[in-house]
Formats: sequence, structure tokens, C-alpha cells
Amino acid sequence: MTKRAFITGITGQDGSYLAELLLAKGYEVHGLIRRASTFNTSRIEHLYVDPHNPSAHLFLYYGDLTDGSRLVTLMSEIRPDEVYHLAAQSHVRVSFDEPEYTADVTGTGTIRLLEAVRMSGIETRFYQASSSEQYGATPPPQNETTPFYPRSPYGAAKLYSFWITKNYREAYGLFASNGILFNHESPRRGETFVTRKITRAAARIKAGVQDDLYLGNLDAIRDWGYAAEYVEGMWRMLQADEPDDFVLATGGSVTVRDFLQTAFDHVGLRWEDHVKFDQRYLRPTEVDALVGDASKAKSVLGWEATVDAQQLARIMVDADVEALEHDGRPWIDKVNLASWDTA
Ligand code: NAP
Ligand code: GDD
Repeated sequence: MTKRAFITGITGQDGSYLAELLLAKGYEVHGLIRRASTFNTSRIEHLYVDPHNPSAHLFLYYGDLTDGSRLVTLMSEIRPDEVYHLAAQSHVRVSFDEPEYTADVTGTGTIRLLEAVRMSGIETRFYQASSSEQYGATPPPQNETTPFYPRSPYGAAKLYSFWITKNYREAYGLFASNGILFNHESPRRGETFVTRKITRAAARIKAGVQDDLYLGNLDAIRDWGYAAEYVEGMWRMLQADEPDDFVLATGGSVTVRDFLQTAFDHVGLRWEDHVKFDQRYLRPTEVDALVGDASKAKSVLGWEATVDAQQLARIMVDADVEALEHDGRPWIDKVNLASWDTA
């Protein structure tokens, strides 16, 4: 029997890797996309086959986490075996600018989807994309028993989603698991998250199409892993015997400054010659240090990260250098990134 998966956030970084993984495993993949005036499907274009073609296994549906009745309709029609709920307003800095919207999408959006599952009466397994950002001010190392102390509207919204997922597990017996994922990155990472901002700038400065890189707090510590590995962990959570909550992390502890150093070294540049400070990238409350302990995922799921932050920085810089070389646009697209990146 072909398994059917439904992915919210399929156009995002993780959604694209997960769709790839599930298609490779023989799943039929159904994904929620937002209507936009420009195409927002570039991360999954390589997977798309015209649905009129009998070989198509990927199907896309317009919808939005703010539209509950649409979610009920989709759950009733698609009747997925597994639901991967990845969609969110996922940018921490932006959540301070748009706290109410973030609560609606990143928090209430989850209850809308859980209710859609419940109301449609389907038997399904549910994955919630929870976050290390929920630990906030609680010092590392963080694992499944560490108390949460969110430090942003995003972290608080994710905390609601975490608990409501757990509540549906306990109240209705839903097979619902939280993946508490530490930062994970890739060449597909959104351009305003710090790792991608750095690797893209390193490639552009090396190519002579950018001079400076404006950043905020360089002292923050993160546990950066490779997104392609983390989606395997999501899938394993839904194949487990019991629903549960799991941390996925590398255990590594790296500052933004360390990541900068590795990325710029890789293209033979000194970051100190190009990086400037801009306070707009500071957050009203910062999360100083996130370092995960993923030993439970290792023992129960057999999942372990293999790519560390240094390797990741090099993978991402190489990809950004290659993207510049294979795309003529950067030479006519000489912009100062700080002018549009307000996140
Ligand atoms: P991402 O690249 O920002 O992708 C977010 C996805 O959500 C996109 O597909 C986006 O659609 C969709 N989305 C946003 N608002 C929506 C709405 N109102 N209705 C429907 N879809 C909406 O995020 P990611 O890095 O892949 O992360 C995936 C999930 O894991 C997110 O929930 C994130 O908060 C969580 N998480 C991420 C990390 C990490 O380090 N990456 C760590 C822990 C948890 P568009 O393409 O149209 O914008
Ligand atoms: N974005 C950004 N831009 N961050 C900067 C900058 C900058 O110019 N300069 C310094 N930073 C610092 C931030 O203050 C933060 O401490 C760190 O770099 C990482 O920022 P982000 O890459 O934006 O990620 P994040 O840790 O806030 O959030 C990501 O990870 C969470 C998991 O812990 C996101 O992917 C969230 O969706 C995810 O839940």
C-alpha cells in the first residue's frame, strides 16, 4: 500500500527536503502552498511532475494556516496516513515586528490543523515542528526534560503548539509527536537567517558583487546541523512504536563569529574586513545559547547528526559560490543587502 503524507510548509527549507525523502521512500506526497503573486515553489520545482502524468506523486493545494475550514476540507479529501506540520512564520526577529500574526500562524495554526484532523475523523500520525527556541533563557545543554523559557513571540507561539500537540495525544489518543529541533541549515536556508546571510555574503564578496555584511550579535551560541539529516529524524518519529517528544541536535556549540570565520576562511577572505554592526539585527530579548542533547533520539530512533557546523558552513559557501557562477544575474543585481533585509 502506498503511504500518503501531507506536508504543511512544503515550500520551505525543511518541507523541500522532507518531500524529497518521502518521494524517494515511495510515498504519495500532498503539500499545502500559499497563493502568492509570484512563484514560491522554487525549492520543490525539481520534484514537480504535471499531475496529469500518471507518474506524478506530488500534489499541491492552495491553503493557509489561518483558514481552518480549508484545512478540514483538505484532511477529509486527502485522508493522509502521516501529517507533517512544518508551516510557520519561522523568523524570530520578525516575530517581534509581527507578534499577533506570528501567534495566529505559528500558534493557533497548529490547533486549526489538529482540529481538522480530529473533525475529519481520519486515522493519521501527526508531526509538530517544535523548536529549541522554546528553551530560550534556560542554559544548555538542553534535552526533553529541560524547562522551557521562551524569549520571543515566536518561541511563545511554538510553546503553545508544543503543548497543544501533547494535549491532543493525551486527550484523544492521537499519534502526535513533537520534534524539538535545534537550528538546522542548508543551501536552501532562507536568505535572512544568519548562516545563509553569511555564506551568501562570503560568495558575493569574493565575486566582487558585494562589499559589506551587516550583522547583529556575534556572540550568540547555536548548535547548527544540516537540514537534510533532520528530516530523516522527523520521519523516524512517525515510524516509532509510540508517539513522543524528541530533541534533534548535533551537540556542537558554535558562535555566530565562529561560523563567520569558517565561511570567510573557506573563500580566502578576512571577515573582519567586511562585517559591520547594525543594531536593527539585535532582538529585544536574545537567546544566548542553544546546545542540544539528542541522546534520546539516538537510543530510541537510531538517529544521529553527522555533519557539524564547520562542514555545514563549507557546504553552504560552496553552494552559494556555485549558484553565483551558474546564474548571470548577480552581475546585474549589485545591491546592498542591508537595504532590504530588515530581519
Ligand atoms: P521556512 O523555510 O521558513 O518555511 C516555512 C514554511 O511555512 C514555508 O513553506 C511557508 O510558505 C510556510 N508558511 C508560512 N506561513 C504560512 C501560512 N500562514 N500558511 C501556510 N503556510 C505558511 O522554515 P523551515 O526552516 O523549513 O522550518 C520548518 C518548520 O520547523 C517551521 O515551523 C520552523 O518554525 C520549525 N523549526 C525550524 C528550525 C530550523 O532551524 N530551520 C528549527 C526548529 C524548528 P511560503 O514559502 O509561502 O513562505
Ligand atoms: N537573522 C539574523 N540576522 N540573525 C543574526 C544576525 C543577522 O543579521 N546577526 C546576528 N544574528 C544572531 C541572532 O541574534 C541569533 O542569536 C543567531 O544569530 C541566529 O539567528 P537566526 O539565524 O535568525 O536563527 P534563530 O536561532 O533566531 O532561529 C532559528 O532557529 C530556531 C531554532 O532554535 C529559526 O530557524 C527558527 O525558526 C528556529 O525555531
